[in-house]
Amino acid sequence: MITIVIKGNKAHSSPDFLLKDLPGSGGRMDVMCRCLTSSLLLSHDIRTDVEVILCLEGPPTPPRTIRVKGDKVRYLSPDERSTAILLQKALRAYEPGREVESTPGIYVSDASFKDIVGENMERLVVLDENGDDMPSCTLPSDPCFVLGDHIGFEPEEEKLLHDAPLRVSVSPRVLHASHCIVLLLNRIDRDVNGQSFL
Ligand SMILES: C[S@@+](CC[C@H](N)C(=O)[O-])C[C@H]1O[C@@H](n2cnc3c(N)ncnc32)[C@H](O)[C@@H]1O
Repeated sequence: MITIVIKGNKAHSSPDFLLKDLPGSGGRMDVMCRCLTSSLLLSHDIRTDVEVILCLEGPPTPPRTIRVKGDKVRYLSPDERSTAILLQKALRAYEPGREVESTPGIYVSDASFKDIVGENMERLVVLDENGDDMPSCTLPSDPCFVLGDHIGFEPEEEKLLHDAPLRVSVSPRVLHASHCIVLLLNRIDRDVNGQSFL
C-alpha cells in the first residue's frame, strides 16, 4: 500500500466552506482536492493500491483528517467541485473520538498531522525540494509520502519530520504538491513495470 499524506495548514476543518470559493473560504481546499485526485485517479481508472490522508489543520475546529482508500472509494471524479462535496460530506459525518466512514472509502477523524506522522514514521518519505534526488533513492515497498501545501511545514513539524528515514526531491524546481504526486507515482509505476526511471 502506498500512502500519501498532505498537510493543509489552513484547510477548513468544518463543512461550512463555499464550493464557489475553495481557495478563500476553504483555506486552499482546492489544493487538497487536486492532491486527492492526482493521487487516486487515472484516466477511466483508479489506483487501488493508494490511500490518501488529508490533514485539515485550518479553522474553525482543527484537527480533522480525511482518509480516502483507493480500493474502496466511490463517486470520486476529476473535478474539484464534486471532490470538495465529498470532503464536505466527510466533515459533516465527523464524530468525536472515532473514525467514521462518510461515503464508501472515505473516512473522517480528529487525528492530527502529528499523529499521522508518528504512526507512520518507519515508512515515511518526506517530499522536499532539497532532498535526495528521487531516481537514485531506494523507496520502501510500502512508502508513506508526506507533502506540504502552499505553505509547507511549520518549524515544529520540520523537527518531527527530521527523524524520517528518507527525504526525496522529484525536481530541481519547487513544484505544486499535486504535481509532485504525479511525478512520484510515475516513478513507482515505472519501477513496478521493470523500467528504469533514468
Ligand atoms: C508548493 S510546495 C511548498 C512551498 C512552500 N512555500 C515551502 O517553502 O515549503 C508544496 C509541497 O510540495 C513538495 N515539493 C515541492 N517541490 C518539490 C520538489 N522539487 N521535490 C519534492 N517535493 C517538493 C513539498 O512537500 C512542499 O511542501
